[in-house]
Amino acid sequence: MVSTVPPGPRTEAPAAEAPAAGVQGHPYEPQADRSSPNRNLTPISTSLDAEGRLAVGGCRLSELARTYGTPLYVLDEATLRATCRAYREALEASYPGPSLALYASKANSSLAISALVAEEGLGLDAVSAGELLTALRGGMPAERIVLHGNNKSREEIELAVNQGVTVVVDNARDLELLAEIAPGRPAPVRLLLRFTPGIECHTHEYIRTGHLDSKFGFDPDRLEPVLRQLAQCPWAWLDGLHAHIGSQIFELEPHRDLAGVMADALALARSLGHPCSDLNVGGGLGIRYVASDDPPSIQEWVSVVAEAVAEACRQRNLALPRLLCEPGRSLVATAGVTLYAVGSRKEIAGLRTYVAIDGGMSDNPRPITYQSPYTALLADRPTAAATETVTVAGKHCESGDLLLKDIALPATASGDVLAVFATGAYNASMSSNYNRIPRPAAVLVHDGIAEVVQRREQPEDLLRYDVIPARFSPVPSAGATV
Ligand code: LLP
Repeated sequence: MVSTVPPGPRTEAPAAEAPAAGVQGHPYEPQADRSSPNRNLTPISTSLDAEGRLAVGGCRLSELARTYGTPLYVLDEATLRATCRAYREALEASYPGPSLALYASKANSSLAISALVAEEGLGLDAVSAGELLTALRGGMPAERIVLHGNNKSREEIELAVNQGVTVVVDNARDLELLAEIAPGRPAPVRLLLRFTPGIECHTHEYIRTGHLDSKFGFDPDRLEPVLRQLAQCPWAWLDGLHAHIGSQIFELEPHRDLAGVMADALALARSLGHPCSDLNVGGGLGIRYVASDDPPSIQEWVSVVAEAVAEACRQRNLALPRLLCEPGRSLVATAGVTLYAVGSRKEIAGLRTYVAIDGGMSDNPRPITYQSPYTALLADRPTAAATETVTVAGKHCESGDLLLKDIALPATASGDVLAVFATGAYNASMSSNYNRIPRPAAVLVHDGIAEVVQRREQPEDLLRYDVIPARFSPVPSAGATV
């Protein structure tokens, strides 16, 4: 039985003055769980300055908004490093063999995050040429990268093979392309084989991957023929097996079950002559978006996974593989805060009050896609008493572009800065230019210093790839600028 964030709408505002329910009390309270940031609502360095205004990484949030503009993605370096260390140390403490956590960079891919994660000794999972290039240019060593994808292009596989990145074979097409690309190279190509473990977990259906009706990986009954086929390929070196069951998962049982399924597959692969020194159990650990969320800690998750894999191998008399896992959300989500400026307001008597901010579904598509709840506070009045229940709306031309439904807030005025927490994962990476709105900048904060790690897109940037056919007559305002 797995319980996770239910897919239905769910929002919660922290109560003003009185601490909101939840392990850490009011979100800005400094007694955060520093050892497992995924259990906190806010970055671990969140504090109140002398005037009672919110600060992260020693930087006052409203000041960041003024300096860098809004919407603004703020990333707390202390939280990012703490989560990397939590995974590394938990693996070292609870797994008797070698191990490596690979950051699932789909959660938030940038040069700076790649560099930071590499510096912390983790590896990285990429799913496209873009993520791969970002990781390599960010300084992630190729031997610590794996390339995923259920429909890799020839160019993506070539890039991985040329750079010495491990390719996760997902399907027969991958094998066809590899059979064209790999032979004749000085060394066999390193591979992992992804299969669908057939484990159900009750997260949002869009982010479930381990059940049999999934587009990812080989069916379990295809495993043996594929392993036999690979055993005949001198250009292939099967490093190990991969499976991933889903995302934003709070229960530990499916991860325990996965260990048994994977150990059976490992025994089969080794019996067919494959070295299979790696077992990659994917990611999936959930995080706290609202006070009522209660995800396991990184330490609990890792120890359950590590002990289950070690025990499953013991039972089957298998030499311990290197244990790989692929955390995405739990590694970066809590480090992120998005700052918006409050703008217009619409009151519908007896029905609803909309407070609009200067971003929305283009910088955070999660509420409209998965009905995901978030927690927000006013950056300069985080402890002011809530006086009304409002719905925070984005600025996009879409009625469903609502960031926070029915949130209790103090009265807001245009220009107030709203801080939305836990936006470090799957926000920037899933952002769009819908309505031709440029993507926000991102700043990394630490010890009172803010550094731009992604520059703000400009309207002009959005025109860069447009072409007007020469046969069209030029329009009078063609020289307009913003
Ligand atoms: N490994 C594989 C093969 C994956 O497909 C994923 C996520 C991960 C690792 C990382 O999972 P995490 O630790 O982040 O749960 N856009 C959705 C999430 C999609 C997850 C896709 N795969 C969201 O915003 O909730």
